[in-house]
Amino acid sequence: MSESYRQLLDATIQHVEGLKARGVRHLAVAPETLRALAAPAARNTAPPPESRSHLTSAATNTDSPPVQSAIRNPQSAIEKAAAFAELQKRALACVKCPHLASSRKSVVFGVGSIDAQLMFVGEAPGADEDEQGEPFVGAAGQLLTKIIQATGLSRADVYIANILKCRPDTPGQSAGNRKPTTDEMQTCIPYLHEQIDLIRPKVIVALGATAVEGLLGKTVGITRLRGNWREYRGTPLMPTYHPAYLLRNQSLATKREVWEDMLAVMEKLGMPISEKQRNFFLKG
Ligand code: URA
Repeated sequence: MSESYRQLLDATIQHVEGLKARGVRHLAVAPETLRALAAPAARNTAPPPESRSHLTSAATNTDSPPVQSAIRNPQSAIEKAAAFAELQKRALACVKCPHLASSRKSVVFGVGSIDAQLMFVGEAPGADEDEQGEPFVGAAGQLLTKIIQATGLSRADVYIANILKCRPDTPGQSAGNRKPTTDEMQTCIPYLHEQIDLIRPKVIVALGATAVEGLLGKTVGITRLRGNWREYRGTPLMPTYHPAYLLRNQSLATKREVWEDMLAVMEKLGMPISEKQRNFFLKG
């Protein structure tokens, strides 16, 4: 059984079990998907996943067997899950930044629902994230979780990723973080572009100046950017402060600014907003 077929099967089983757990009893599957799943012996002539630069460019390889083309041009939920699994596998094996590949403990790919309407993008994993392999699990992450929960959502309802999938190394330092370099961002950003292309969120929240720079290029400072809608390839993008900044600036006014950004996001998504929510972090 080829690796890509095994991967498709694993993703399919995982997806179908998830649907069953949520009470779904019937599934519509496109005929071409069924044909692809029924072709385990198909010839595997495609290049190894690591050598592909982008899902869409790889889709032009007419030699590839039906299973692989189904993965690269996802039409159904099953194909989307398989394409996401394939992307994750590629990212986890990435060594494009040798200095980061040799210093990292994990590749921190992302977490949450691949069907999320709301996606959060941060800067890069810190020490806790590197240790646990999950974005935003340290102190700033716990604050992000609280912000998400204040909207009525959970971490599992949204998708959380970073511009950089590896922790920026800090040679000679035992603690602390550093900002990703422009080179590192340019090298890693294609993974995030592919994640966004597959998830197709309705709204992206960019956490801090580096996230905005990674997604939109260099603009003005985050203080001027935050609270104003931008667009990432047609998707509304709300820049706001990074939760680490909030931890350093615990004023009511700063908390309210971030919360106003989240209220705008909730409105854009058509989420219900209670009076209590509207008044969070207002004086008196
Ligand atoms: N800061 C980030 O930008 N991302 C993380 O995953 C953790 C902290």
